[in-house]
Amino acid sequence: MGERFLVTGAQGCLGAWVVKHLMARDMDVVAGDLTIDPVRPRLIMGEDAIAKVDWQRLDVTEAEAVMAMVQDKGITRIVHLAGLQIPFCKADPARGAAVNVSGTVHVFEAARAAGVQGLAYASSLAVIGREEDYDMRPVPDDAIPRPYTLYGAYKVANEQTARVYAEDWGVGSVGLRPCVVYGVGRDQGMSSDLAKALLAAVAGQAFHIRLGGRIPVEHASDVAEMFIGSAMAGGRAARVFNMRNDVVTVPQYIEAVRRIVPGAEITHAEGVDFPHPADLDDAGLRGLLGTVPHTPLDQALARDAEMFRTLLAEDRIDLTQLTV
Ligand SMILES: NC(=O)c1ccc[n+]([C@@H]2O[C@H](COP(=O)([O-])OP(=O)(O)OC[C@H]3O[C@@H](n4cnc5c(N)ncnc54)[C@H](O)[C@@H]3O)[C@@H](O)[C@H]2O)c1
Repeated sequence: MGERFLVTGAQGCLGAWVVKHLMARDMDVVAGDLTIDPVRPRLIMGEDAIAKVDWQRLDVTEAEAVMAMVQDKGITRIVHLAGLQIPFCKADPARGAAVNVSGTVHVFEAARAAGVQGLAYASSLAVIGREEDYDMRPVPDDAIPRPYTLYGAYKVANEQTARVYAEDWGVGSVGLRPCVVYGVGRDQGMSSDLAKALLAAVAGQAFHIRLGGRIPVEHASDVAEMFIGSAMAGGRAARVFNMRNDVVTVPQYIEAVRRIVPGAEITHAEGVDFPHPADLDDAGLRGLLGTVPHTPLDQALARDAEMFRTLLAEDRIDLTQLTV
């Protein structure tokens, strides 16, 4: 039997990009999320590819539903992205834990029962603490986690869950720690301001980025490729990797946007530093993947701007996201 992927959180930003890249590789894809209307995937995928995806309603808080989906669909690899971001976990901690922690346990349990060959899941830079908590630069994969948000604490729980599943049952996994992801489809969570700033610029609107300081950024398309490569890697160990593509200050990011959209009216939080260390060691991920997918910032922004122009011209993107 061939490979069949389950992508959880497939209607999210990273989920949409993972589904897009899997379809480009002609893979069999079951795309699970709370809804089956592919709103974000439609921003970046053509209708032909959309029609070939098996869109399924899947709530990862429902253990039996996750188990049944993995077994009934003959899933061989999982990219687990379903999750609630920092503000949503803060607003509803119990729901945050149910989705981010229990949901991940359900995915691991289903992977164990079905003997899936590859499991990649989203951890986060949020497991790493504040800039001042770490002496070593770049910060290694095995730095002591010091999360200061519930979201980060839940991601630490997931990394530890993964470790125990490997030790007790040989369920291998790769946890990836995205930093600040930008790209078409990134429209919620505080760090989505970078992506929104470009959309606002293309739409001719002013925008304020609620971040400052030096930040590690990755394009959603590259991160999606990293998740696919990690799910393909297999093995029986639990591995967790930092990411590091571009490291820029917020003013440098704004300058890069202005090279694409001259005169873009973008401000940012002055005198505010990005709380996490920006200098992360991604040697482990390089070791796993060989080459880490990396579209240089200017090139990625130019491509996104072109996509935003088309989406705006065809009235296919919701600008209310700029005011949330
Ligand atoms: N975007 C980033 O900068 C970033 C950084 C670090 C880590 N991450 C992690 O990567 C993953 C994907 O991030 P994203 O940017 O695509 O987020 P997103 O918010 O765009 O997408 C998350 C998706 O999960 C779905 N979801 C929520 N609850 C669910 C449930 N109970 N069952 C099934 N699906 C559910 C949502 O409907 C949404 O489509 C998340 O786990 C996130 O914590 C993202």
